[in-house]
Amino acid sequence: MNIAVIGSGGREHSICLKLSQSPNIKKIFCIPGNTGTKKIATNININILDFKKISIFLKQNNTNTVFVGPEVPLVNGIKNYLEKKNIFVFGPSQKASQLENSKSFTKKICQKYKIPTAKYRFFKSMAGVKKYIEKMSTPIVIKADGLASGKGVSICNSKIRAIKICKEISEGKFKSSKNFIIEEFLTGEEASYFIISDGKDYKFFGSAQDHKRIGEGETGLNTGGMGAYSPSYLMNSILEKKIKKKIIEPTLLALKKMHSPFTGILYAGLIIKNNDPKLIEYNIRLGDPESQVLMMRLKTDLVKIIQFCKNKKLKNLNINWDNKKAITIVAASKGYPNNNTKISEIKDLHKIRLRKNCNIFHAGTIDRDSKIFSTGGRALNVTCLNNSLKQARNNCLNILKKINWKDKYYRKDIGWRVIN
Ligand code: AMP
Ligand code: GLY
Repeated sequence: MNIAVIGSGGREHSICLKLSQSPNIKKIFCIPGNTGTKKIATNININILDFKKISIFLKQNNTNTVFVGPEVPLVNGIKNYLEKKNIFVFGPSQKASQLENSKSFTKKICQKYKIPTAKYRFFKSMAGVKKYIEKMSTPIVIKADGLASGKGVSICNSKIRAIKICKEISEGKFKSSKNFIIEEFLTGEEASYFIISDGKDYKFFGSAQDHKRIGEGETGLNTGGMGAYSPSYLMNSILEKKIKKKIIEPTLLALKKMHSPFTGILYAGLIIKNNDPKLIEYNIRLGDPESQVLMMRLKTDLVKIIQFCKNKKLKNLNINWDNKKAITIVAASKGYPNNNTKISEIKDLHKIRLRKNCNIFHAGTIDRDSKIFSTGGRALNVTCLNNSLKQARNNCLNILKKINWKDKYYRKDIGWRVIN
């Protein structure tokens, strides 16, 4: 079959690679794709929010299955639009996408179904904010309601700062919404937990640990993710049972009751303390860079998984994972995540010989005249699979050393909580 993948990051590169390994694939289109996907798919330069253009292209190219990487097209209703034209979209409907788009939507479900999460209050203006914050202890967590490209969450160590942040949001700092929630700060360790659903049944789809801060030992500014590994060392059967029973299943039930069953991949961002999970947030897609490690560990044919979801037969499919550990380390441009848009050349990338279980996924690169350039942020995701997480990391670090790029920055400590 032919499949189109929507997106242009390291996540989409890893998805294209997995699809390309399937005996059931004929053609992969990546819209718009990147320097890495170009080698295994046909990149098509269409705006990912121009659903009409996308549907015309898909019809002309005999493609009736689409895998959506990022959240924005899903939240904007790509599934609703394309499915009216008989094109299957692997991903959730616009309504089910509210799980990521709206913190208040998710919190209301949590409240109704007693899903463990941080205590919170929803605000539409500054009325009552000061009084509410006065009663809280610090740190205080403020979240803009709506997509904010990972910038909508502030953890405030003082009440004055918390009030300032609320004021900024209520005055329109984020285009997506002037509403916000104030919630208690949860302590514990974070884990990413994924499930896949065809709208009827669901299956586990891997776990991972993301590393969001720019500096080693989780210090410095928050980023889009500097590395990840899978599986999460926090997982055990008792914890998983709690995650499924207390968090995943009530959420899927809530959406079914709203006549918007969840289809696609649901990503629960969790905080774990004393083997008890609490939900921090939902994402309605694979994580980036978590996808890069999950796709290295996924043994079942991804095309087959999508077909089983399309036919609502997921129940009959076993999804198998490699027991080995996967790790991905992000190579970013020095200065990231501050506004750093310097374009610089990454030399001789093609000369690096990769072992069988290693890949370099492209995230933010462009090619011009056969040369590769970083576009200024996170550029490459060096990813390896090995029986030992430490060895997997060493293999990544050896590759990273060889990358001839003067502006290269990466964390050498991804996986530090388990490796050291
Ligand atoms: P979110 O966009 O909701 O995932 O939040 C981004 C990051 O902020 C999370 O990955 C956590 O590290 C942190 N965070 C969000 N909510 C809380 C909370 N209630 N308590 C502690 N940390 C939080
Ligand atoms: N790795 C975090 C995210 O994809 O949202």
